[in-house]
Amino acid sequence: MLHVESLRLEFGGVVALRDVTFTVEKDEFFAILGPNGAGKTSLFNCLSGLVRPAGSIKVDGTELIGRKPHEIADLGIARTFQNLGLFGSMTVAENILVGSHLQIRGGALSAAFRWPATFSSERRARARADELMELMGLREYRDLVVETLPYGIRKRVEIAKAVASGPQLLLLDEPVAGMNHEETEAFVDFVLELKQRLGLTIVMIEHDVAMVMRIADRILALDFGETIGLGTPDQIQRNERVIAAYLGTVDGSQTPALLSMEEATSE
Ligand SMILES: Nc1ncnc2c1ncn2[C@@H]1O[C@H](COP(=O)(O)OP(=O)(O)O)[C@@H](O)[C@H]1O
Ligand SMILES: [Mg+2]
Repeated sequence: MLHVESLRLEFGGVVALRDVTFTVEKDEFFAILGPNGAGKTSLFNCLSGLVRPAGSIKVDGTELIGRKPHEIADLGIARTFQNLGLFGSMTVAENILVGSHLQIRGGALSAAFRWPATFSSERRARARADELMELMGLREYRDLVVETLPYGIRKRVEIAKAVASGPQLLLLDEPVAGMNHEETEAFVDFVLELKQRLGLTIVMIEHDVAMVMRIADRILALDFGETIGLGTPDQIQRNERVIAAYLGTVDGSQTPALLSMEEATSE
């Protein structure tokens, strides 16, 4: 579904992404792992048209590089942001309606809910927002102002807003950052169920290694803008560059999480 090839992004002298290549299959739960500054958010910014990298990003054969963010959204790609992308002074329902006002196509949501074709687009949008709030356990928060809600709930609203446009591909940027253990567990169950209900393909950025290992089908590990591992959780767990960069050195001694690539590869 998603083909990223030889992606390169620079800011002035800083190389944020260097020759990054990977593919995400339809229905996959794909994770991007890496310490702060690894280039994870930059990669999402490339995918959603906020920056213009060199290389190629194709979704179902369509090149994304050079397209505007709204064109990319129309192609069925939605994302959340590391720092909540919500309108804090609006209610939960209003935020979700904003998300759904992106054009609705015959995507995952219509298939999941089968609204009557006679619904006006506004009624469809409201019906969809209500269904989503039901599905996402947000009904009791419907008319509450977002900035008054606990963080875990706000994160859920942000995802509801993102999927309200009926995307095929959902990009989540560190969705559990700032959540405690219970919130994280609940969130994982929630995302897995949502993925199944809506037939979503998910790419999730995360640096909680244990969580990623548990739920991802495949993982791309980045460090300093470069791919240091790509494979199943098992393969990533046994990958020496990943071990050196994040999990301590191969011989068991501890290494700093932000070990430089030179050090990590010069053993
Ligand atoms: N808009 C920008 N201008 C300049 N440098 C940036 C910009 N965005 C990101 N960078 C740099 O690119 C690198 C990767 O950042 P980022 O993609 O945010 O990493 P991550 O999300 O993995 O923490 C960092 O060195 C960061 O400082
Ligand atoms: Mg980031």
